[in-house]
Amino acid sequence: MRVLVTGGAGFIGSNFIRFLLAHRPTWQILNVDKLTYAGNLENLKDLWDHPGYRFVQADICDRSLMDSLLSPPQGMDAVVNFAAETHVDRSLEDSFGFIQTNVVGTQTLLEVVRQRGVGRLLQISTDEVYGSLGPTGAFSEESPPCPNSPYAASKAAADFLLRAYAHTYRLPAIITRSSNNYGAYQFPEKLIPLLITSALADTPLPLYGDGLYVRDWLYVEDHCRALLQILESGRVGEIYNIGGSAEYTNLAVAQMILHELGKPESLIAFVADRPGHDRRYALDCQKIQQEFGWTPEHTFPDGLRSTIRWYVEHEDWWRRIQAGEYQEYYRRHYGPRLSAAADRGRVER
Ligand code: NAD
Ligand code: DAU
Repeated sequence: MRVLVTGGAGFIGSNFIRFLLAHRPTWQILNVDKLTYAGNLENLKDLWDHPGYRFVQADICDRSLMDSLLSPPQGMDAVVNFAAETHVDRSLEDSFGFIQTNVVGTQTLLEVVRQRGVGRLLQISTDEVYGSLGPTGAFSEESPPCPNSPYAASKAAADFLLRAYAHTYRLPAIITRSSNNYGAYQFPEKLIPLLITSALADTPLPLYGDGLYVRDWLYVEDHCRALLQILESGRVGEIYNIGGSAEYTNLAVAQMILHELGKPESLIAFVADRPGHDRRYALDCQKIQQEFGWTPEHTFPDGLRSTIRWYVEHEDWWRRIQAGEYQEYYRRHYGPRLSAAADRGRVER
């Protein structure tokens, strides 16, 4: 089996490639990644010499290049599309890149897959397309999309394009929508690695608003196992939710991390909220449970402990990222928020 994986130098994509080559050692994987700020070839360093792994630096919006990668003699049996701009906060600053990659990039892949008759396209979407929940309930695959951020809207737009291609051209495409992933190799802008690396550096752990927003946490390896099952046996034209069944408030996550690292809760800083912040996500995953018997194998406390250990043991990896473009992003995004929180603390004292 020849599989083109896009965005394979990012967090979930790199975990997925490693998972594929461990469980399907005869498969040929071509990783196509533009290497944006979030792409990091170091994430797959252990596979550079693997005979089943190749890498091409390319933009999924480059139609002629994508066409050449999918056309004979090379050809591909399947495409798995992880490539995306993924950080909600960055989409609030400037969403043009999100529309370009997440919408135009997906459409480019759909068109090339259609023309080259590729056997299967797996689109990695997100629970954020459903919008926000109150304190109870969960989204099923039948819930109507109601995206709230430019990021979520761009992913929902891609899902609609996929639906249209599946309906009109019978394109053999499948959409997966997962909840919040965590695990090794996650870029430190996202909540869990941000909190772990901040705690390790004894710097403030910034929580937006009251810290009581809820996410459903999915260990990345459980996600990869679900994706492989869907890639091999999922029904074309379908949507599959993949959730972690592990709802926690952001405050509870911060407290668990601080407790595990033996650091004081006084490091938590409540900062100005994210505009339009979705209060709660939760997924109904009966479909994937019934079709594949899939359920998460890792509990959140166990997965979180392994993740913390990984960041402790890979300090070089995240320190190198923090020394680059990220520094400027961190200053711009958190500088005023953290100063305001510190001023408030002084007044309250
Ligand atoms: P990430 O930001 O860690 O990685 C994204 C990768 O895509 C990077 O390697 C980047 O270089 C690459 N990329 C970006 N634009 C590209 C382009 N135009 N052409 C080729 N490559 C490009 O993201 P992630 O967290 O690993 O997410 C992967 C996918 O999973 C995304 O589609 C995201 O929407 C989806 N998703 C993520 C989560 C999560 O919790 N992280 C949950 C649900 C769904
Ligand atoms: O739900 C799936 C989505 O999960 C994916 O589609 C996205 O690509 C991924 O980034 C993630 O989106 P979130 O916005 O939920 O993740 P993030 O890590 O940015 O934030 C998680 C929660 O933590 C959210 O309630 C916002 C909050 N948060 C985040 C940051 C970065 C804070 O309180 N402080 C922070 O500094």
